[in-house]
Amino acid sequence: MHLTVSAALILNDAGAVLCVKRGASKFPSTAGKWEFPGGKIEAGETPAQAAVREIREELELEIDALTDGPVIHHTYPEFSITLHCSVCAVRPGSPALKLHEHTDSAWVLPDRLWEHDFAEADRPALLWLKEHFFGTKLRTELFGRYPHFLESCTGTNDRLLALAEAGAPAGTLVLSEVQTQGRGRLGRSWLSLPGQGLLFSLLTRPSFPPEISATLSLVAGLAVAETFRRRGIDAGLKWPNDILIGDRKLCGILCEAQTSAKGIEGIIIGIGINTGAVPDEVAYRAVGFTEPLDRLTLLAEFCDVFESFYRRWETGALAALRDELDRFDCKKDQPILVKLSDTPTEGIARGIREDGALLLETPDGIQPILCGEIVQWD
Ligand code: BTN
Repeated sequence: MHLTVSAALILNDAGAVLCVKRGASKFPSTAGKWEFPGGKIEAGETPAQAAVREIREELELEIDALTDGPVIHHTYPEFSITLHCSVCAVRPGSPALKLHEHTDSAWVLPDRLWEHDFAEADRPALLWLKEHFFGTKLRTELFGRYPHFLESCTGTNDRLLALAEAGAPAGTLVLSEVQTQGRGRLGRSWLSLPGQGLLFSLLTRPSFPPEISATLSLVAGLAVAETFRRRGIDAGLKWPNDILIGDRKLCGILCEAQTSAKGIEGIIIGIGINTGAVPDEVAYRAVGFTEPLDRLTLLAEFCDVFESFYRRWETGALAALRDELDRFDCKKDQPILVKLSDTPTEGIARGIREDGALLLETPDGIQPILCGEIVQWD
């Protein structure tokens, strides 16, 4: 026996997602009981239209179909199923609560779907839903326009490097729920708990000499700080590319080049942000959030800020972000310890120069430091 089922994922006007309507539109493998009526598709209707019609009729809701989603095939010993997904929006003002009452489902943000016990076979639909939701929030022309959402990978930088080598365009985004070998700067690892971190990489293809391209990680750091400040959170940049709240690390950035015999072909900007709880191992120096942030909305906000900073950087290099360099530098005029090689040097931080160097005032005068890091906890 083969069934064709139409499944509708319904968004309320705040963008929250209903889990799927019971019966015809519930993910079959999560329903377990196989109680759906079979999704009757009338003549001339697409499966997605059928799902919308059913919901309209049964729940008397005002809804609009937004888009058709993936078609997923499940094969079971006794029968197989083709599941057509669509996304619908409840019209503003429509009694969305009724839907909630009518089903035993709850409103869920796409970003929180990982918390639910969806079966393996349904995961492509969930990833698609997350990508779709992210797309509705995105206002950029470039960054985030080519998304690859993954459940798990060794690291988003690794995955994006492979895509970059296969010719992926600038703006390509890789996001993963889990990283099995997330990497940090200087050979360290990046740890995060499932669902509690925003882990992603963006591909840029700048056409500048390496010394200018190297300042891109500062641009990304400034954009993270600005994204949080727009939310009223006082995040600052610790040179070269840690984002702190107070003295604790909120976000780390790892930029890596894709090179060929011709030189730098692309730069991968890998960003890890603690958006919920942090792992015990780093809890003494990291900061997260008790109530996890909606990562997809945060990511869309970041892409927007980053794109505008990137455009300024493209025309005027780091000098075009002079104001942000001064405003977000949270160590400026403070005594710091900088690790250049193995020996730390003490001094007073005197800001970040437009070539990306940290200015360190020591008894010998002001020294520009192009690579190293401010030692804080180690
Ligand atoms: C650091 O603070 O040392 C940099 C951490 C960078 C972590 C991010 S998470 C997404 C991307 N993929 C990785 O493997 N690393 C970066």
